[in-house]
Amino acid sequence: MKTSNTILIFFTLSLLFSSSFGAVQDFCVADLSGPQGPAGYSCKNANKVTVDDFVYHGLAAKGNTTNIIKAAVTTAFDSQFPGVNGLGISLARADLAPGGVIPFHTHPGGTEILILLEGTLCAGFVSSSANQVFFKTLNKGDVMVFPQGLLHFQLNSGKGEALFFVGFNSPNPGLQLLDFALFKNNLPTELVAAATFLDVAQIKKLKGVLGGTG
Ligand SMILES: *[C@@H]1O[C@H](CO)[C@@H](O)[C@H](O)[C@H]1NC(C)=O
Repeated sequence: MKTSNTILIFFTLSLLFSSSFGAVQDFCVADLSGPQGPAGYSCKNANKVTVDDFVYHGLAAKGNTTNIIKAAVTTAFDSQFPGVNGLGISLARADLAPGGVIPFHTHPGGTEILILLEGTLCAGFVSSSANQVFFKTLNKGDVMVFPQGLLHFQLNSGKGEALFFVGFNSPNPGLQLLDFALFKNNLPTELVAAATFLDVAQIKKLKGVLGGTG
């Protein structure tokens, strides 16, 4: 009796474990109608998934670089490209006119790897532990990696246009531009000055250019 009970318990447990470990999901295409949580979107009904969920055309076209940074970033994160949801991966495209720059920014949720397809780029990042600076001029075909969360920039240092693609080890790495965070907001100028040690005149100028108030 005892033995058979033990066997029964073992059998039940092994079923439980095998079913939980066996529940491999091939994919979890984002259900964009639901909320986005820390683990991404919930899964679209697998019966409704089509090949188009795994194909994205948005990176084929050049972005519009007629703006203050003379650059455009086009993202293929989970919100635009539902097929990457849950897969720990995503992509973006950057076009930079001559003199264009992707100003200091971070991706809180992912490490970035860049491949330069056209032009010349000066790219770099700053470490958080000792403010070490790592920057380099990149030429066509060069690859550079930017560790997760660190402030980094990419400047078109050539005479023509620059084009690069970046991959992320997250379907939603996020993007925060430092100057936008500091000046494209309504935090009172005196507080920005006190919190950054910058001159009030410079802050007002940048708020004006970037669309901040206060
Ligand atoms: C690019 O953006 C500028 C500024 O917003 C706009 O005037 C222009 O029409 C846009 N060009 C294209 C091709 O969309």
